[in-house]
This record gives sequence, C-alpha cells and structure tokens, in this order.
Amino acid sequence: MNPARIEKFAGVAELLRCPLCGARMHVRDASLRCEEGHGFDIAAKGYVNLMRRAVRDEYDAGFFDARSKILAAGFYGHVLEALEDVLASTNLAGPMLDAGCGEGYYAKALAEGVDVPIIGLDTSRDAILRAARGGNRVCWFVSDVANLPVRDGALGCILNIFTPANYAEFTRALSTDGMLVKIVPGPGHMIELRELAGERLRHAHHSNRRVVEHLERHMVLERRVRACATCDVAPDQVADLLRMTPLLFGVDDTQLPHDRIRRVTVDAELLVARAGHADA
Ligand SMILES: C[S@@+](CC[C@H](N)C(=O)[O-])C[C@H]1O[C@@H](n2cnc3c(N)ncnc32)[C@H](O)[C@@H]1O
Ligand SMILES: [Zn+2]
Repeated sequence: MNPARIEKFAGVAELLRCPLCGARMHVRDASLRCEEGHGFDIAAKGYVNLMRRAVRDEYDAGFFDARSKILAAGFYGHVLEALEDVLASTNLAGPMLDAGCGEGYYAKALAEGVDVPIIGLDTSRDAILRAARGGNRVCWFVSDVANLPVRDGALGCILNIFTPANYAEFTRALSTDGMLVKIVPGPGHMIELRELAGERLRHAHHSNRRVVEHLERHMVLERRVRACATCDVAPDQVADLLRMTPLLFGVDDTQLPHDRIRRVTVDAELLVARAGHADA
C-alpha cells in the first residue's frame, strides 16, 4: 500500500477513540488499533471503515454519483464560498471534522486552504469511496455522527452540512472554544422542483424553526449566514438534479415534467454555533 495513505491516518491517530470501547487508537500494520485490541484496516483506497454493519437507507450509489456531478458543475459553489468566508473570519481552534461529508465536496475543497487536520465521515461506504478517490489529505471514515470516533474535546470545528446532527456527540468532541457550522436548506431551496412536485413531497412546506430551536437547546447560536443563488440547468443535468436531493426522496421523479426545469435555486443557511448552553 502507498505509505502516504498510512501516514495520513498516523497523523490523526492521537485524536481518535475506538468506536467500540472508547480506548485510544494507534496505527499498526496498516490498521488502526485500540488498546483493547479492536482493529480496523486502512483500506488501500484510502479510508477506514469503523462500522461493523452497513447502514441501509436512501443514500445509495446513484444518489452520490448524481450529487458528485451537480456539485462539480458548481451549483453549490456559493455555499462553499460562504463557508470559506465564515471559517476565514474565525480562528480555527484545532482539527476539523465534516460529520456526514457525503462524497467530500466541502472537506476536499477546504483541505486546500486550511492547515489543520481534516477528518470526513459518513455512514455510507458508497460516499466515502467516492470521497477518497484520487488521494487527498482528508482522513476518511465510514462512521456515524451518533458515535464520533474522536476523543473528548479533540476538535476545533465540526461541519454538519445537509446532514442530521447529534449534539451530544458534537459538544463532547468539540474543544471548549470549538465551533459548529451546520448548513441547512433555506426557505427557497430547490423551490422550482418543490413547486413541480407539489403534493407528492413528504414535506411540502419548509421551515428551519425546529432545527434552530433544537440546535439552541444544545449550543450557543452565534451567527446565521444566508447563501442563495439561482442557476440555469442544462437539459442533460435535470435527471441528476432530481436524483441528488433528499427533498425528492419517495417521489417518482420520472413523473415530473423534466422539460419544465430550466433554473434551480440553491438556498442554504449556515448556522454558526459554539459549544455550551444558551442559558449557561
Ligand atoms: C444530503 S447528503 C449531504 C452530504 C454532504 N454533506 C453534502 O452536502 O454534499 C446527507 C449525508 O448524510 C449521511 N448520513 C445520514 N445519516 C448519517 C449518520 N447518522 N452519520 C453519518 N452520516 C450520515 C448520508 O449518508 C449522506 O451522505
Ligand atoms: Zn476498542
């Protein structure tokens, strides 16, 4: 195996804890091992699978392929820029974790510009395989936000982008001055697709109120930043666009009039929060 693939994980081993027993982790013989003897291979493809059982959900390989194409085409470029601006305006207090990183669009882009260690994790092996492709300095894990493989207080920053949160784990893993940037859909997100899908949607009306209230029960919300842009959609991008958004999970997108989709709005809200209780 390429030694750089192993060295990359050796560089973050001191941040890690065993997902099975919580003990410290070390790199030995191309695997991550804990002091209690649990071992996880560093795959030749450049990631570590920390989950003993695969998760079955709607995030499948086709979802990530479609998502990769739409992200690579720049539809979410303004969201990445807003995230870079938020990070540039704060002192990063240590290593960064992208919790629910998908195929790694944000972590890979940020790895070019920040000099802290970066970890990306996702429950989907399909996602992590795509994230690790081509080799990059991010340490990728198949892992769950509900059981972060990092030691208490080890992280300076957690990103949680269009992905479920676990605030008990986030506050445990963040240092006292650590920061969370959670990105959620804004009110106009994919409005063109939602209008077309209408009653077929699981959630016809969108609001972040509950998401924000839930966050504020666990952390101190410091800032909300909006990133919204509307772009043209080429006819050969429509099928991928319909496939890549969880908004349309459960909707048969072949029933939607593809030829009426010419523009799409990507509306995101960045919620910037610190560990600690709002009423502390
Ligand atoms: C809408 S995608 C967003 C992916 C990526 N953050 C992005 O914005 O491109 C949601 C991701 O959350 C992941 N996910 C869902 N539940 C998870 C969990 N409990 N732990 C880790 N990842 C999870 C899915 O596998 C999927 O990759
Ligand atoms: Zn262990």
